[in-house]
Amino acid sequence: MSSKEKPQLVERLIGAGTASDAAVADLVDEVGLDAVVDVLTEEIAFRCPPAENTTAVAIALDVTHGARRRRAVFRVCRDEPIRPVDADGVQMVLEFDVTSLVRRIFGPLGRRRTGDFGNTFLPAGIEDLGYLRDASMATDTLLAGCRNDAVDLGALAVRHGSDKWASLHWYTPHYERHFERFRDRDVRVLEIGIGGEDRELGGASLLMWKRYFHRGVIVGVDIFDKSALNQSRLTTAVVDQRVPRDLVEVGEQYGPFDIVIDDGSHVAEDIRTAFQTLLPYLRHDGVYVIEDLQTSYLPEFGGRAGDVAQPNTAVGLVKQLVDDMHFRERETAAGRRPSLTEASITGLHVYHNIVFLEKGTNGEEGFPGWLREILASPEQS
Ligand SMILES: C[S@@+](CC[C@H](N)C(=O)[O-])C[C@H]1O[C@@H](n2cnc3c(N)ncnc32)[C@H](O)[C@@H]1O
Repeated sequence: MSSKEKPQLVERLIGAGTASDAAVADLVDEVGLDAVVDVLTEEIAFRCPPAENTTAVAIALDVTHGARRRRAVFRVCRDEPIRPVDADGVQMVLEFDVTSLVRRIFGPLGRRRTGDFGNTFLPAGIEDLGYLRDASMATDTLLAGCRNDAVDLGALAVRHGSDKWASLHWYTPHYERHFERFRDRDVRVLEIGIGGEDRELGGASLLMWKRYFHRGVIVGVDIFDKSALNQSRLTTAVVDQRVPRDLVEVGEQYGPFDIVIDDGSHVAEDIRTAFQTLLPYLRHDGVYVIEDLQTSYLPEFGGRAGDVAQPNTAVGLVKQLVDDMHFRERETAAGRRPSLTEASITGLHVYHNIVFLEKGTNGEEGFPGWLREILASPEQS
């Protein structure tokens, strides 16, 4: 993805999702209805929940723009991936104006959408009325892919096979609390650690984020090549989080990010390297997440067993950031320029094994020195 050079069509469509009808029409005129429908159909196929109908149903999506029309056909059947196919006989036709479909896919979250499409139910292939149920289930599945509802993140984690909920970790309610405000925005998300190491392709959480942030662009990095996962709105890169130069390259090419998640090596030193190097590439008002804080107490991750986490660990970093946040109140910081963390970490939310760090302007003066002096003077006592 060469996002710094030229936004991809999908990113322009994300922008069009909240733009005027005229802006959507201009974009379709410029790039062509076929190109737009290609992006939309890939997105719809990705968003569809697993099909439940046992008899295959072919559904045509007819997308119109003025006098122009483009058809995409989806085969929908349990245990099969839903994707556009070449098919002649279709049982159901759904017809959308391209602007309505762009709004459904990349528009504001969770609007109830009725009265924005037409349909034709064809007899092709129907042999008995039992088939009606399969057709109905398949159509519901496809229409679910044409929506941007607020899907539960835990359910998405389970659907895509991420351990962020209901198995090894219990993170998704924390993520929902802190990411809710980004959900409708055209966010850029970076996750360190794609999963699967060199044994499997991984990518569970990247797919989960792609579905959760329906207007987001997701970047995943790993020491292993995961480029087979690359698709619309999801890009991977080979990066070693121990190497600042690798991280800077990612920041320069794909950043700045609204959200950075460190779910990589979980080694103490690597966590700190990634945080220090990527913080400049986190947007003002962004969130930096570090998972698996428990590794601060595990020697195999550079931690140390004991009652108190060592300063060089992730938990040590969190404690340091509490001090940094109060740099104005610390005599040791008087008269010098604040560091980036002192100047910009405005919130720390620590939960069991995970921390959310908020970036902004840590500029409040708090309790002025002159007031302390007055209060400490003998006349006041
Ligand atoms: C726990 S898995 C990530 C799981 C994934 N985020 C999910 O929730 O589905 C950790 C990944 O980090 C990668 N990793 C290990 N060391 C790394 C390093 N130094 N830099 C980048 N990635 C690393 C591993 O290859 C592995 O795929």
